[in-house]
Amino acid sequence: MTQPASRGAGSRSPLLTLDTVEKSFGSNRVLQDVSFKIRPGEVIGLLGENGTGKSTLMNIVAGALTPSGGRIRYADAEHRFGSIAESIQAGIAFVHQELSVIGSLSVGENLFLGDLPRNRVGLVDFPKIRLASRAMLDAIGATWIDPKMPAGTLRAGEQQLVEIARAAARKPRLLILDEPTSSLTPHEVSAFLSYVTRARTEGTAIIFITHRLEEAMTICDRLLVLRNGAIVADRVPGETSKEQIIRDMTGKDSPFAYRGRAQHQGDIALNLSGICDGGHLEDISLTVRKALNVRMTDDRQLITTLSGGNQQKVIFARALLSDPRLLLLDEPTHGVDVGAKSELYEIIRNAADQGLSVIVASSELPEITALCDRVGVLSKGRLAGVLERDRINDETLLRLAFSEHEGQAC
Ligand SMILES: Nc1ncnc2c1ncn2[C@@H]1O[C@H](COP(=O)(O)OP(=O)(O)O)[C@@H](O)[C@H]1O
Ligand SMILES: [Mg+2]
Repeated sequence: MTQPASRGAGSRSPLLTLDTVEKSFGSNRVLQDVSFKIRPGEVIGLLGENGTGKSTLMNIVAGALTPSGGRIRYADAEHRFGSIAESIQAGIAFVHQELSVIGSLSVGENLFLGDLPRNRVGLVDFPKIRLASRAMLDAIGATWIDPKMPAGTLRAGEQQLVEIARAAARKPRLLILDEPTSSLTPHEVSAFLSYVTRARTEGTAIIFITHRLEEAMTICDRLLVLRNGAIVADRVPGETSKEQIIRDMTGKDSPFAYRGRAQHQGDIALNLSGICDGGHLEDISLTVRKALNVRMTDDRQLITTLSGGNQQKVIFARALLSDPRLLLLDEPTHGVDVGAKSELYEIIRNAADQGLSVIVASSELPEITALCDRVGVLSKGRLAGVLERDRINDETLLRLAFSEHEGQAC
């Protein structure tokens, strides 16, 4: 889906203006010198690695946090929201990163939480809730979600859509979405994105936090990149590239490029032959080689590389310090932002270069193409094929993953 980059928002006066906003928690300076404007009908993507201050910044805009410095103007007046209630009153809707639906209540009750309509005798008007809920869900394309269902029985992505429906129904002037698509399926994403397109034509200003760059580049008029609490780039999607945005976010080049491997083919480290499990797996044969047989010489150096507080990196460090010969990684970067991914890829490649054999189970194609020297593709419990480096690309991987043939070598 391709959107025109601008929808005339540029001619309107700003709805929200941040001027040199700062925020510190004690001695921890989280935001510094943040200035930007957003106009009615404009969609801004707010991008940045984990912990860089995106949610804090949006909490300030939504009145949940007070800035330590700077000025904010909203709708031609000084921004002085002392509470979330005041910002809601002023037309700001914030869909938070964390899900907040109440599982034991129905979808409809969640949509009207705190404001349940009553009938003439003072009882909750369930028929009215159901009717209005249907319209609220349909408005964001979530036509299949039943308002009568207990919200706790919905998948995480569907719960997120309920929260978006609740925010959208208020017809906000400014809608803030903090990673709204992280647990949506492709079908749900496309329903959600058509809602965003419609809302912007009605003049809603939207700030959209996401880790999905393709999505941000498709839907946003501008992309703001936050790094270490400061805005380091303000870009127009049609005039930039994914690689540039990744460089903005990390200060480094894309982690998604294969950087080659040590030159020698090592001895065989693991050989599977005709493996079955009596259930899903049938006749799996696979060989994993060492690269060079060099032991890690300086464990301290490795720990330095791993510092940075990321939990996944600590788990890696622990696994590597036991000096294994074979490392099994199951979706090693699931839910990890692009910068931490780059560091994890570097660690995995370095370990492989030093003689460790690594098997990565991954459903992310860029990850497989960036990391692997050889790929075995499983399809319906069988090894559909094994690809050597020069044949590893999205097309061959997908073709094998969706292949119907049985154990055919490629
Ligand atoms: N209430 C708080 N008290 C202290 N530190 C906080 C608080 N909220 C966020 N931080 C810190 O601010 C930094 C930015 O966090 P956050 O805004 O959640 O980042 P992001 O949304 O970009 O992942 C982190 O270092 C986090 O630990
Ligand atoms: Mg956040």
